[in-house]
Amino acid sequence: MPVTRNSLEESICRQSVELLNTHLAASIDLKGQVKHAHWNIEGPAFFGLHTLLDLVASVVDAFTDQLAERVRVLGGAAEGTIQSATSRSFLLPYPKQVDDEAKHVFVICGALATFGESVRGAAARAAQIGDAGTADLFVEILRNIDQQLWLVGSHSPPKA
Ligand SMILES: [Fe+2]
Repeated sequence: MPVTRNSLEESICRQSVELLNTHLAASIDLKGQVKHAHWNIEGPAFFGLHTLLDLVASVVDAFTDQLAERVRVLGGAAEGTIQSATSRSFLLPYPKQVDDEAKHVFVICGALATFGESVRGAAARAAQIGDAGTADLFVEILRNIDQQLWLVGSHSPPKA
């Protein structure tokens, strides 16, 4: 990796870059899944969900940019192509047969929850290795993903 003026040890930067690139890939995948639902959703709550999903995609897109730029801050190469996102993302593929709005909400909530869980682990890992800046970014992302999950999930709350 190229040397930067950042005083973090290179070994810490390398580990953080790995964490960041993994979540960069997943965030690109997540945005695509949210837009897929935004485009294909149908049903009585169409307009609200269609509009909300576009807002969620914007939030995710902002994180994609922050993850990629944090990689560069630490001297790494941001792996931001669709091809690398496809091969690195840990999200489940979007099911092909989704034909009503409740199923789209279920799938998107699953993707947001999976992404959030991994981000929570990444925040803890970054703090553990001594990269407070990366940990802070992951915590910020986590808080926002939790909120998006609440906003989308409120359309189809889990049954007790
Ligand atoms: Fe649109």
